[in-house]
Amino acid sequence: MFTFGKNKTESRLTGEFYTNAIGVMQGAGALGAGIDCGDIPQAGPAAPASAFKTYANYVALPASEAFRIEYWKLEEAKIRRQPPEKELSRRIMMVVGGGSGIGREVALLAAHRGAHIMVADRDVKAAEAVCAEAREIAGKEAVGCVKIDIRDRKTIRAALDEAVRQFGGLDILINTAAIFPASPDGVITDVMWGMTLEINVTANFMLTDEAEPIFTAQGIDASVVLTSSANAVVAKRGTEAYDVSKAALSHLVRELAITYAPRIRVNAISPATVVKGSTMFPRDRVIASLKKYNLLYDEKSSDDELRNELARFYARRTLTGQPIDPRDCAQAILFLAGPNTPCTTGHIFPVDGGLTEAFLR
Ligand SMILES: NC(=O)c1ccc[n+]([C@@H]2O[C@H](COP(=O)([O-])OP(=O)(O)OC[C@H]3O[C@@H](n4cnc5c(N)ncnc54)[C@H](O)[C@@H]3O)[C@@H](O)[C@H]2O)c1
Repeated sequence: MFTFGKNKTESRLTGEFYTNAIGVMQGAGALGAGIDCGDIPQAGPAAPASAFKTYANYVALPASEAFRIEYWKLEEAKIRRQPPEKELSRRIMMVVGGGSGIGREVALLAAHRGAHIMVADRDVKAAEAVCAEAREIAGKEAVGCVKIDIRDRKTIRAALDEAVRQFGGLDILINTAAIFPASPDGVITDVMWGMTLEINVTANFMLTDEAEPIFTAQGIDASVVLTSSANAVVAKRGTEAYDVSKAALSHLVRELAITYAPRIRVNAISPATVVKGSTMFPRDRVIASLKKYNLLYDEKSSDDELRNELARFYARRTLTGQPIDPRDCAQAILFLAGPNTPCTTGHIFPVDGGLTEAFLR
């Protein structure tokens, strides 16, 4: 049995109505035929056929009468009084990297906007925690979570299959997962270099490549949003592997936009430093950055105090002058992912506070 509805709960309820109707038909049919079919399902406890006094067969209403029941004034008034649908109602979204930072904010904001969400992350505990938070907003049937490692096609396929199984399809794919390679002496080994390109570039290709057949089979509009970085255009000493990986990712966005047009749009955001909520800023990286920029700090300060200090420094370098919040990035991602940008594809949208070094040239 396949049932449809504007959301998962409505689809389930429709299925339950059918299941009950089938029970009624079976029961009535069994009574009419006079055969002992065991217990008859009914609203109260099940009862044996022999307990019924009246024998009758199941007879369906004529279509005109069924129509009258569905479309009488009170029923129509009920439909009109339903709350308006939200921006992402009827959309199914997978947020890869949803266990932390920007991905977490995307999942929570999408929950407010009515989407069905599959939170996917290599860190399954983190994905579960975000799933629980998003369920508080959107209800428990609207959000699921799954483990994924985007370096491995098998887990990508399994995670996508799980989204389709739980929600019936996929409309939006978002990836925020990436790594920022760091080492205490600032030297990036060949292994780290390879892994950075593998996760930040190739894995993005594999992820979209596995999602494409689902989008194409559905035959309806879909969209992909990936996450680049201001570092894709601003060259820096000591972050070569990361910067090169993000430059390649930005170009991958343009390549995919061409390959998947016209039905699947592919865009990205390009944030500058987002310290809040990110696992990319462990204490030693924050201290290394404070030292690099000759900023005074107290060794005894907490992790958060040091991170705030660094965030304020980065903010001073931007035109808008305030730290970039992961929620600002989530807003931009959902703008590109949703119904308000049907004519935007192959685009990289900056969320960098107006970092003039990253102005396009
Ligand atoms: N935070 C920043 O300053 C900043 C700046 C510019 C761009 N970005 C980009 O934004 C994105 C998100 O950054 P964030 O700060 O939210 O990072 P984060 O580290 O807080 O979150 C990334 C998530 O991706 C997951 N992940 C990592 N590798 C994975 C893999 N192979 N498979 C599945 N999941 C994996 C991690 O478990 C984590 O939950 C990244 O692409 C990053 O490069 C971040």
